[in-house]
Amino acid sequence: MISKFTCLHTARLAARYPLRRTYATASSDFVRIVEVGPRDGLQNEKQSIPVATKIELVNRLAQTGLKTIEAGSFVSPKWTPQMANSSQILEHVLASPPTAPHPITYQWLLPNVKGLDNFLSVWEAKAVGQNGYPTPPPSPDSEATAGTDGGAAGANVHELSIFTAATETFTQKNTNCSIAESLQRFEPIMARAKEVGLNVRAYISVALGCPYEGPNVDPHQVAELAVSLLEMGADEISVADTTGMGTAPKTAELLKTLSAAGIEKNDLALHFHDTYGQALVNTLVSLEHGIRTFDSAVAGLGGCPFSPGATGNVASEDLIHCFHSLGLKTGVDIEKLSGVGEWISYEIGRSNESRAGKATMAQIKKREA
Ligand code: HMG
Ligand code: MG
Repeated sequence: MISKFTCLHTARLAARYPLRRTYATASSDFVRIVEVGPRDGLQNEKQSIPVATKIELVNRLAQTGLKTIEAGSFVSPKWTPQMANSSQILEHVLASPPTAPHPITYQWLLPNVKGLDNFLSVWEAKAVGQNGYPTPPPSPDSEATAGTDGGAAGANVHELSIFTAATETFTQKNTNCSIAESLQRFEPIMARAKEVGLNVRAYISVALGCPYEGPNVDPHQVAELAVSLLEMGADEISVADTTGMGTAPKTAELLKTLSAAGIEKNDLALHFHDTYGQALVNTLVSLEHGIRTFDSAVAGLGGCPFSPGATGNVASEDLIHCFHSLGLKTGVDIEKLSGVGEWISYEIGRSNESRAGKATMAQIKKREA
């Protein structure tokens, strides 16, 4: 049993040596941000956003130092009309790669072979003609390998994202099939992706709470799915708290369960929506477990049309401000990113949900006054 003396002793030591416990030394001091604003951030907006605005968003994000951007999705326009013009965004990124300080990995979400065919019809016509099949993407946990050579836009990489969910009801609502059927749909996608040299990331939605089946999603179900997806050939699993129902203890339990199932921390990304304001707390718990890839959306944009009541992704600016305060590196210029957050919020008539973004903009305005 821990005595009162031991607790006090530990507390005094912590006060005397506050810098002994740092996240930066836990495994790597680089954290990879997957900016999902152009896809997850915009897909739920009710009014139609002009494709020029979406392209401008991708262009501006590319200039901030972000290394991975999910730029659109190839889903049924009947289900998610806002994403209907993603092929135009892909065409733009391939034909006129956004100016960026380094090569960027662009990710494209799709649920089935039809989505893959639509993606490939653009990608094969443009990318293969120009550059040949893409080179393998950077290792998720290393800044050095993530393309800091200031290299040509031709070195950009494209990846696919597929998605299933930890509960049957959410899977039905989001993709009109069972979990088992969603896995069957992925097999030909995975095979074709490997043939053409595209990496595939796989999302597991509602991992910490489901809008239809409640907050207590079985972490073992998430672990089983993650193992199946990795065995099938997924290059990364993004574990998604779609509803924002995740809490610190639930996040810790889920990560322990994933680890006990043999899933390496380097194979995982965490994707927090911030409905209950717990995303940063859950991020810190994940950092302590050694996770070094996190999804977020500029200005806290976002939401899933099939997750009623859930709000946006954790804001990229908030996440990055938090990481930098811990001595971790992201490679992102938070001032530039905050400017992008302010711009896109204005463009789509939405309030900027990033507190760090708004505070950073206030500092910039004060400095320039
Ligand atoms: P379905 O209605 O069962 O599909 O939907 P279907 O095969 O019967 O086809 C119906 C019609 O859609 C047909 O057109 C197909 O051609 C067309 P019609 O013959 O009637 O004219 N169609 C397509 N069109 C374009 N692209 C496609 C495509 N597929 C079929 N890929 C389906 C099944 C999976 C297609 C549908 O349910 C769907 O598109 N779901 C996606 C919903 C969505 O976009 N959700 C949000 C993204 S996931 C998310 O946000 C969660 C995440 O952020 C992580 C987290 O936070 O949890 C990733
Ligand atoms: Mg999401």
